[in-house]
Amino acid sequence: MKDAVLQLNGICKGFFGVQVLYDISLDLFEGEVLGLVGENGAGKSTLMNIVGGVLPSDAGTMKLGGREYKPQSPQTATQAGISFIHQELSLFTNMSVAENIYIDGYPTGLFGRVDKKKMYQEAGKYLEKYHVDVKNPGVQVGELPMGSRQMIEIIKALVKETKILIFDEPTTSLSNREKEILFETIGELKKNGISIIYISHILEDVLKLSDRISVLRDGHIIETKKAQEWSRESLIRDMVGRSLKQVYPTIEKTTGSKVLYSINHVSCAGLVKDVSIELHEGEILGVFGLMGAGRSELVRAAFGVDPMESGSVTIGGKEYARPTPSDCIQEGMAFITENRREEGLMMPKSVNDNIAMVMERNLTGKFGVIDSRKEQELTGNVIAAMGIKTADPKSQPVNSLSGGNQQKVVIGKWVATNPKIFIVDEPTRGIDVGAKYEIYKLLLKLAAEGAAILFISSEMEELMGMCDRILVMKDGSLAGSIEKAEFSQETLGRMAL
Ligand SMILES: Nc1ncnc2c1ncn2[C@@H]1O[C@H](COP(=O)(O)OP(=O)(O)OP(=O)(O)O)[C@@H](O)[C@H]1O
Ligand SMILES: [Mg+2]
Repeated sequence: MKDAVLQLNGICKGFFGVQVLYDISLDLFEGEVLGLVGENGAGKSTLMNIVGGVLPSDAGTMKLGGREYKPQSPQTATQAGISFIHQELSLFTNMSVAENIYIDGYPTGLFGRVDKKKMYQEAGKYLEKYHVDVKNPGVQVGELPMGSRQMIEIIKALVKETKILIFDEPTTSLSNREKEILFETIGELKKNGISIIYISHILEDVLKLSDRISVLRDGHIIETKKAQEWSRESLIRDMVGRSLKQVYPTIEKTTGSKVLYSINHVSCAGLVKDVSIELHEGEILGVFGLMGAGRSELVRAAFGVDPMESGSVTIGGKEYARPTPSDCIQEGMAFITENRREEGLMMPKSVNDNIAMVMERNLTGKFGVIDSRKEQELTGNVIAAMGIKTADPKSQPVNSLSGGNQQKVVIGKWVATNPKIFIVDEPTRGIDVGAKYEIYKLLLKLAAEGAAILFISSEMEELMGMCDRILVMKDGSLAGSIEKAEFSQETLGRMAL
């Protein structure tokens, strides 16, 4: 076998006395894809931050191309040939696509000047090559949907001279087509001798793409083997430390006849066209559709986050033509958005503060003062129920939680408000298999107690496993409704296309 391009030897890392990585040794070979999997909070991103020069290690050494490698910053890592596509997008929303792609520098011309015109042309070529749906590289990133932003983040890494590429959950907002393009690109990069570390909770993808896979659990490398020697089951067993037999929990529940919430002939800005939905007590109603079908736009309008052009919603018998989020919350609704990091969290605040935020009404005592003992109790319950991994909920800012644990905070804080109607948009994105099961269980339990859930997802399997009925959206309209007995990938796919 060839020598490793990157060697990690005995890497250790802790934060404020909490050990996160223990004695990690790993080799990465030329032209291989090394998959890295593990539960939320296992230490995957932290390890990659050390490789990518974002964080220093506490102990251990690294070698790049046989020479000692000790990056002082992300820039030195880039110069050494390591590019890192982060779990959280690092684009500047107020800058153009081209400026973002070449943020680390566009090659300068004769007089040390950047030829802007050429830079925009080059950027345009990349957008075309990777089939990104952006007509003009001059458009501001903030105006683009999440899928395109994620592709731009990837292109930003591809334009650099790179020997090693790190992907940390790169596909969370990608459509199937974009994902295919990404996987083809990874295949080409491999052929050119580029080495890749690929992190994802979608184990099927990791199994398909990787040459070898390492499992990280609680900061320890459990095992590294050839991809053929792993299966979904054995990966899960090593990740979680026990085997998980079921993907979807079995909880008895029935759908009542009472309509708790309805969307009445809602249209918005060409993206949603005259959609009506009735959501019943105890029902889990799925909404499937391809990227851009208008699912998120619909529910954002239905919760009053974005304006609707026409139509109304009826919550608990009351009709709202111009609902606001606070109306909806008052009426006992909860909305778990797809952009949880941006919309759902106060980043520098502690885990407790974030959870308590939407519960304030329930926590305020007679004199309008927050009852801090009650707050402790409630936040403690949420942390336990969701299995949120935090060193100290009172002081740890949410932005230092792992990506998946941030998601759990958002879901947990809504559940704590005891809502009767839930809108959940891609609730398990970025969440590990074990925690997914817990979230499914929680949603099913809520429905069994009479809550109504509108469940949006791009994963057919998940919808088929969880829902009583699935609506299919296409080009902003409802294309059909399928009952549980008729669920199949074919029917769903056919309606969505
Ligand atoms: N700056 C920090 N301060 C304190 N703790 C941190 C910091 N960064 C990470 N941690 C902790 O380190 C642990 C590992 O986090 P990491 O982000 O590496 O997990 P991960 O494997 O990437 O998880 P996920 O799948 O959820 O993205 C977590 O418990 C997290 O809270
Ligand atoms: Mg991570």
